[in-house]
Amino acid sequence: MSIFSDTTLPIGCEVHRGALLHFLDNPGNNPEPSPNSMEYFEDGVLVVHQGKVLAAGAASEWLPRLPASTQVTCWPHGLIVPGFIDTHVHMPQLGVMASYGTQLLDWLETYTFPHEARFSDADWARVEARRFTDLLLSHGTTSALVFCTSHPESVDALFEAAEERGMGLTAGKVMMDRHAPENLKDTTSGSYTDSLELLEKWHHRGRQRYAITPRFAATSTPEQLTLAGRLASEYPDAMVQTHWAENIGEIKWVGELFPERTSYLNVYDHYGLLGDHTVLAHGIHINDEDRQRLADTGSRIAFCPTSNTFLGSGLFDFRAACEADVSVGLASDVGGGTSLSMLATMAEAYKVCRMRGQTMTPWQAFYLATLGNARVLHRDKECGNFEPGKTADFVVLDHHASPMLSMKNLFINNLSETLFNLMILGDDRAIAATVVTGQLQYQRAALPQSGTSPTHSHTQGA
Ligand code: GUN
Ligand code: ZN
Repeated sequence: MSIFSDTTLPIGCEVHRGALLHFLDNPGNNPEPSPNSMEYFEDGVLVVHQGKVLAAGAASEWLPRLPASTQVTCWPHGLIVPGFIDTHVHMPQLGVMASYGTQLLDWLETYTFPHEARFSDADWARVEARRFTDLLLSHGTTSALVFCTSHPESVDALFEAAEERGMGLTAGKVMMDRHAPENLKDTTSGSYTDSLELLEKWHHRGRQRYAITPRFAATSTPEQLTLAGRLASEYPDAMVQTHWAENIGEIKWVGELFPERTSYLNVYDHYGLLGDHTVLAHGIHINDEDRQRLADTGSRIAFCPTSNTFLGSGLFDFRAACEADVSVGLASDVGGGTSLSMLATMAEAYKVCRMRGQTMTPWQAFYLATLGNARVLHRDKECGNFEPGKTADFVVLDHHASPMLSMKNLFINNLSETLFNLMILGDDRAIAATVVTGQLQYQRAALPQSGTSPTHSHTQGA
């Protein structure tokens, strides 16, 4: 596919050659992907021009059309896929990862809130935001929906770091005006004015987007939720993100705080916080009525498997959500989650499904982490696959990245098995390179080299 109909491509293209896979639609969750839902080229090229995808296809078709001076980067053993997208992650929680021995509410009080309080220091926020974005890239993640802290400085720090790296992030200032330490709580009206100011500064500035971010019902007064809903109605194309139905103790507490509401979901519904721009993290302990309401409003769930098992929160019912036509994204939820790697997240999602007697095929897992998550975040016109004109965000996966992956490659028969090995045995070591807006932003140590194509100048990727 290309936006150019003539035979020769323009001067100044950059070409990446390797195996290439991307999704055009949801492949479903059966052993065979739905017809026309994906494209795979064993010897493929991605042609990039001025940061955008110009073409993706077979090397034999596209290489002859390149001007002779075109630089071709070869990725032997490389599988080029769209950059991974994470639909729920906390920038200020890197240091909270791997905190021992608690469930959600104690974990928040013991580890998370004290750590997030440090982000009142703008210098600390900048250092952590750069660390976070660099780590996203080294894990192959090029876009994400991100919680900052209640401090506006943390939002500026994150968006500035994303801009420096050419990444498109969606993020927001946490709104939390009760049940939190003084150094983390905001005020009801201040949370609205700060959010509004940040939204007007960052929403649609380049690739950045704003998300209205009430932490969860338990840390917001009804007045704050009212203001969050007001902001959402004033800016209907801004995202809304919050947590929902993650933990039994949390659900009981929210029930006590909002006795007049019929359910936890009804709290968000009542305050105008549901809709097709809303992403609710977790949604584990829910029922058919909830699913119906999500489907009716277009509200989305971020399935956070490593967080759900680590914090002992429960097992998300993936099949029930799909059957009810609820839109589901895949997410790391670091620091409750134990890895920024979307490969590791896919592995855990598969295991959660197995614990429920369900499955998640590698097609479905790779779809979710790319085009599926782009759709959840309304970024699919911009990224998520290699349709011409989209931003050139991609990852080169190395399925020989570790001795274990190499060993398993001896026993692989098809692409589905390659993908499954990558998601079950792979992690950040399998990320050979990450390219954002056509620019190489991360490159791991060298891959073994193999052949070149004769007619063009070449560079060898890693
Ligand atoms: N619920 C409210 N805040 C949080 C958080 O930071 N992480 C998780 N996993 N759940 C939450
Ligand atoms: Zn979270």
